[in-house]
Amino acid sequence: MDTHSPPPARLLWFLQRVIQLQWPLRLLSPWLGKFNPFLPEFQDLVSALAAVEEQGESLSEADLLSLCMLLLAAGHETTTSLLGNAVLALLRHPDERRRLVGDPSLMRRAVEEVLRYDSPIQATDRVATADCEIGGHAIRKGQLVGLILGAANRDPEQFDAPERFDVGREKNDHLAFGHGTHFCLGASLARAEAQIALAALLQRFPCFDGDPEPAARKRSLVLRGPTVLPLRLYCGGTPTAGEPNSLVWKESVYGDCREEPGV
Ligand code: HEM
Repeated sequence: MDTHSPPPARLLWFLQRVIQLQWPLRLLSPWLGKFNPFLPEFQDLVSALAAVEEQGESLSEADLLSLCMLLLAAGHETTTSLLGNAVLALLRHPDERRRLVGDPSLMRRAVEEVLRYDSPIQATDRVATADCEIGGHAIRKGQLVGLILGAANRDPEQFDAPERFDVGREKNDHLAFGHGTHFCLGASLARAEAQIALAALLQRFPCFDGDPEPAARKRSLVLRGPTVLPLRLYCGGTPTAGEPNSLVWKESVYGDCREEPGV
């Protein structure tokens, strides 16, 4: 900062530093965080959860920690898989990729289709709270029931041609984010992240190439996604006159693309 700035600018600078310091301050000492009059109320989820505890409403430290771990794991692993699965599906279906590049307005549907076609969470479970029957099978109260979301998302009674990857699929009531009371808390965030990231990738690199069989996958029955997905990126396509964001796809998928140096 320019030390000769007029007093209001210096005051503003000082306040900004105080606000920026609030995280380390609070991490270093809960006491400082609690009693420091400069610290305004936090606007983020973790702080809101901590505040619930402060108001005496039931969140123990163990609850808070496990919630934070859930948020980190649920929010990180799954979205990484969603992006990996999306790139893989587009790699394996060049016609659908060409369709999406040609019509970016399909992006929302395309992300929903990846969620259905290659769900990042394949399964969850429930404990039956009462005796019941599902699909002709008797379930007793207290029994653990495995729910295979990945299979439900390929159910031919729910989806037309469920094995087809269709970036324009219209009716797509998939269960990739679960259902009911425990419906995914981060669904909107995950959807937004995937739409933004894929749009940015396709806009800059409409052509990419790679092994359609990923070198390694997550070793899990529940989490599905590649752990490594090497790609060769090409830049190509020509911006349409007056519409710099839309790309005209050339005749062949890779024919008119050139390799971007240094990528
Ligand atoms: C592609 C990304 C994601 C997928 C596929 C996904 C999937 C799911 C599924 C299937 C459930 C329900 C589990 C069940 O009913 O047993 C769930 C719950 C949950 N998800 Fe996600 N999730 C994603 C992203 C996120 C993100 C980004 C966050 C947080 C920032 C998040 C936080 C949670 C939480 C806290 C729950 C538990 C909700 C509850 O029990 O009430 N998820 N997620």
